[in-house]
Amino acid sequence: MSSRAPDRWWRSAAIYQIYPRSFADGNGDGVGDLAGIRAHLGFLADLGVDAVWVNPWYASPMADAGYDVADYRAIDPLFGTLPEAELLIRDAHDLGIRIIVDIVPNHCSDAHVWFKEALQAGPGAAVRELFWFRPGRGERGELPPNNWRSIFGGPAWTRTKNPDGLPGEWYLHLFAPGQPDLNWENPKVREDFEDVLRFWFDRGADGVRIDSAALLVKDPALADFDPADPPHPHPFADRDEVHEVYRSWRRIADSYPEPRALIGEVWLPEAPESFVRYLRSDELHTAFNFDFLGCPWTTPAFRKAIDDGIALHAPVGAPATWVLSNHDVIRHVTRYGRADTRFSLGYRQLGAPSDLALGTRRARAAVLLLLALPGSAYIYQGEELGLFEVEDIPRELRQDPMFHQTGGENLGRDGCRVPMPWSGEAPPFGFSPAGATAPPWLPQPAAWTAYTVARQQGEPGSMLELYRSALRLRRREPDLGDGPLRWLTAAADVLSFARGDAFACVVNLSRTEVALPPHRKIILASAPVTNGMLATDAAAWLRTA
Ligand code: BGC
Repeated sequence: MSSRAPDRWWRSAAIYQIYPRSFADGNGDGVGDLAGIRAHLGFLADLGVDAVWVNPWYASPMADAGYDVADYRAIDPLFGTLPEAELLIRDAHDLGIRIIVDIVPNHCSDAHVWFKEALQAGPGAAVRELFWFRPGRGERGELPPNNWRSIFGGPAWTRTKNPDGLPGEWYLHLFAPGQPDLNWENPKVREDFEDVLRFWFDRGADGVRIDSAALLVKDPALADFDPADPPHPHPFADRDEVHEVYRSWRRIADSYPEPRALIGEVWLPEAPESFVRYLRSDELHTAFNFDFLGCPWTTPAFRKAIDDGIALHAPVGAPATWVLSNHDVIRHVTRYGRADTRFSLGYRQLGAPSDLALGTRRARAAVLLLLALPGSAYIYQGEELGLFEVEDIPRELRQDPMFHQTGGENLGRDGCRVPMPWSGEAPPFGFSPAGATAPPWLPQPAAWTAYTVARQQGEPGSMLELYRSALRLRRREPDLGDGPLRWLTAAADVLSFARGDAFACVVNLSRTEVALPPHRKIILASAPVTNGMLATDAAAWLRTA
């Protein structure tokens, strides 16, 4: 069966990630919303993407930009309404675009009804079993129950007040204090999330992206551990029991006439063999490949990430995925323009100087690499415009809990979340409608006047036109998307591979221009090719037969 068959679309899809706060503001309050997305679906159809993944749009106090969900079945009024979400899904489908919603199962919000009830009910109440409430250590319970640290910085525990106002138990939050971890040992948690999945699948969602997918299950012993030398199994990452959850989710996904896709955010950089267990045939369909995202701009690193990625997925028959940027990482134009081009969540080099012209050249080459690799590919909103990381956001305007919980030591992720520039010569660059009552929720740099959609549209040589051409061609090329890859002999520091018998992709990461291999035609190139020579930091797609 072709990987383009409707029930296997996720094996080849080009998926565009929408960060709803920052995509387009329909009502002029300075925050992106569903009306904004609906108004720009035509842009996405023209761009040529197969699916859209929308970051959380649920009711939320926004302690972590919506990853703190108060009600998984309601749209936050900041973004719109449930009927609007239903219309959005319908409109997208009419344009041939599938919709993936973001499910956040590890934690909810402290404004979720369960958590509010748990606080009101006090220690010993059954509703507290839906979370991880524990008495503190120390004589008066004044110390957290264990030494776990929040992924955003600071302790992973916050003390509560009892209904009588006195200091009470502590609750676990692997992320912000506004994100209490759910107890997946509890059947009510499992049942409720199964119902949430059905809720969105019944409304036409074609798949779900599963947030922090490896963290759900905790060792109930909640023992101290040394994070530099964690025990195996880890007390909260990648525990065996989590796989049962995804087996039951898979049964639900498969019960629909057109099966829904389960896409995991499984961040286990040190344990590829554990990562791939999530992709066994009765679990998730795909998971993000963050090794590729973190690659420094060198041939051995890319070659290894590609080979390892493909080899890792092969035994379970799952397609690999490829991604260069998302809402949690430094935009790749900026990364690739630095002296040190690596990235990992534990290694966020912030504020290092970046040569944006260099980063942009490399980003142009990188997207031709990304879209030629076997499997599905993700595009983070704004990368099609070549947006760079905004590093000079004033500290008082920063919103990311990562910034606040590290006392500002880590600048956090706001720099890749700045609202999109659509048109015009000055902020809000068409992000908000004329007459908007508020400025964009994060300030846009004046330099984005040269990056707007309006400026790049129809402009030969623009990043937007490169993405459009590449996506259009990728759809037409029968050998792109899912399928095998064959490396071709190439000069040092050049990546060269064939897809099928008639297509090749060549990326030049060396310091000199290189001759292209024999070809009938250049289908697309990230930089001008003169006399068959491919420039440094450029890529080309070739018709070879
Ligand atoms: C999401 C982040 C979020 C975190 C907590 C992640 O992995 O991608 O944006 O802050 O989960 O929900």
